[in-house]
Amino acid sequence: MMKKAALVFLALAIAVTSGGRQKPKTPVYLDPSADVEARVEDALSRMTLEEKVAILHAQSKFSSRGVPRLGIPELWTSDGPHGIRAEVLWNKWSTANWTNDSCIAYPALTCLAASFDPAVSALYGKSIGEEARYREKDVLLGPGVNILRTPLNGRNFEYMGEDPFLSSVMVVPYVREVQKNGVAVCVKHFALNNEEKYRHQTDVYLSDRALYEIYLPAFKAAVQKGGAWSVMASYNLFRGRHVCEDTVLTKRILKDEWGFDGVVISDWGGCHDDDLTAEGGLDLEFGTGTNGLSSTGSVFDLYHLANPYLERLRDGRASMEQLDDRCRRVLRLIMRTAMAEDKPYGSLCSEEHYAAARRIGASGIVLLKNDGAVLPVKADAKKILVVGENAIKPLNVGGGSSSLKTQHEISPLQGITERAGCEVVYARGYVGSPGTAQDGLATARLQDSRSADELIAEAVSLAADADVVIFVGGLNKDGQQDCEGTDRVSMDLPYGQDDVIAALAAANPNLAVVMVSGNPVTMPWADDVNAIVQGWYCGSEAGHALADVLFGDVNPSGKLPFTFPVKLEDSPAHYGGKEFPNPGKTFYEEGIFVGYRWFEHKGIKRQARRRRGGAALHFRSRKQRGAPREGTQGLPEGIPRARAELRGEDHHRQR
Ligand code: BGC
Repeated sequence: MMKKAALVFLALAIAVTSGGRQKPKTPVYLDPSADVEARVEDALSRMTLEEKVAILHAQSKFSSRGVPRLGIPELWTSDGPHGIRAEVLWNKWSTANWTNDSCIAYPALTCLAASFDPAVSALYGKSIGEEARYREKDVLLGPGVNILRTPLNGRNFEYMGEDPFLSSVMVVPYVREVQKNGVAVCVKHFALNNEEKYRHQTDVYLSDRALYEIYLPAFKAAVQKGGAWSVMASYNLFRGRHVCEDTVLTKRILKDEWGFDGVVISDWGGCHDDDLTAEGGLDLEFGTGTNGLSSTGSVFDLYHLANPYLERLRDGRASMEQLDDRCRRVLRLIMRTAMAEDKPYGSLCSEEHYAAARRIGASGIVLLKNDGAVLPVKADAKKILVVGENAIKPLNVGGGSSSLKTQHEISPLQGITERAGCEVVYARGYVGSPGTAQDGLATARLQDSRSADELIAEAVSLAADADVVIFVGGLNKDGQQDCEGTDRVSMDLPYGQDDVIAALAAANPNLAVVMVSGNPVTMPWADDVNAIVQGWYCGSEAGHALADVLFGDVNPSGKLPFTFPVKLEDSPAHYGGKEFPNPGKTFYEEGIFVGYRWFEHKGIKRQARRRRGGAALHFRSRKQRGAPREGTQGLPEGIPRARAELRGEDHHRQR
């Protein structure tokens, strides 16, 4: 009896001790050391149908739901692509009024492209990626790589120019460096979003050859070489179907041909139809519908990939296989970002980041003309006159979703004044639109009730005894300029700037004209002005970057990433006075002849200055001068194959 009792005691003791030693097993999906695919499969196998559908659409303006029951976190996105956007309310576009969400504005992507330098792109990606990480974002909505087809597209400043090869080379380091922070890029706007005003209605028809050779290479490079984890489907239609609901671009090309294993995210409000969205190549839906709550609960339940999709899955109209494919992609994105364990902490508004913004800006500024050695500004200059609204206007605010709340912004006037070491005087020259400024003070400073003649007269009288005159004008981020959702109505400079420049050129030969813009402008005064600089939107450090180049501290090495036509009708999208912008079917009749390819093919002069002796000099880079006539050499791999398969142009092909 004693023996039996002792044995039972021993057995119990063993059971208790070994039970105490046994730790609860970590599920594979929560194990950071496990393979991502194994984690994804494990998570998927534990999810209910409702949980699966719930991760495929937004839960607020910029976030989507994870799986709270399983401890799978939310996914937070942010614009992009030039800095980390200020916070907005949960389900409204209005500002959340936080005080810790200001950021550095990096130069616009046109400026980055103009550097022609992948190392500068890597610096850009590293810096903005660190800021996104610090602000706890999982997906950065950028970079943008739509090709500049028309100089009137209000959003060209967010892209990398007209050349598929250049944008392919430049996008890859940006993508890689951002993602090293455990933050996904979302390459946008895939694809053919080449104009803004009717971006929800424009229906693009083009040859397969132009699609593959001109409009897709940068996206392909971002995905295949950069390893992008997400891509944003664009608003426009492609051959009769909205891209957010399409199957050709997002499914057949992106996923099947290119092997993309990431997530296709809708542009905000880009889905329209329950059935088409359910069938299409989209994985994650954002921005559909109105603000606030619906009468039946959360407005987010009404998204195409929410309750309507759930119903279709329940009654067999939508396939479970496709649902699982979508979920795998979204879970993979969460594992790569929100659930990645080895992420750096990131940093915000550091000195290093300001230095990066300045270096990127100075690397992209292009010296277009410098007769009579007007630049660099001479060390013995006693008086510098700065003229123009863009010398003082805050240019990181406005322009649409890329608008930024910056910690500070160095204006060109400030940058020039700090560097000059001599007297610097300022004259307004012209008055543009009040636009949006970060604060009331800035807006008030921009108001001026004097007439155009008075403003010109003031500038001219000050120009007479200045050693050098620096005009800083161009476009801005207000509507119908360089601004999302609108297109420009003309390629000419607004606000009577041509008159100001002509008057200054007559008053003082030591005139340098600095164009701040993300688009080409006409320059009827190009022959009469000795120095012309393309200055771009250079972000927080704009004034310092510009002064670096104007005073010769940095040797200007930027090159134009797009052509400046002499007049709008010369450009391929407008040739023969084609209707623009177009709310319906839009035929890209120029095929592959986009940008400089068109001008060389047709023998059309680009923006030129004629030397007094008669010779014409074109503003184009050495790289462009060496470009092939048919625009095929030097393109990313895959193009020759596509070319051989497609054999020439097949305009207006229907799907
Ligand atoms: C823009 C996107 C942007 C999104 C979120 C859309 O209107 O087209 O580029 O990322 O809004 O702000």
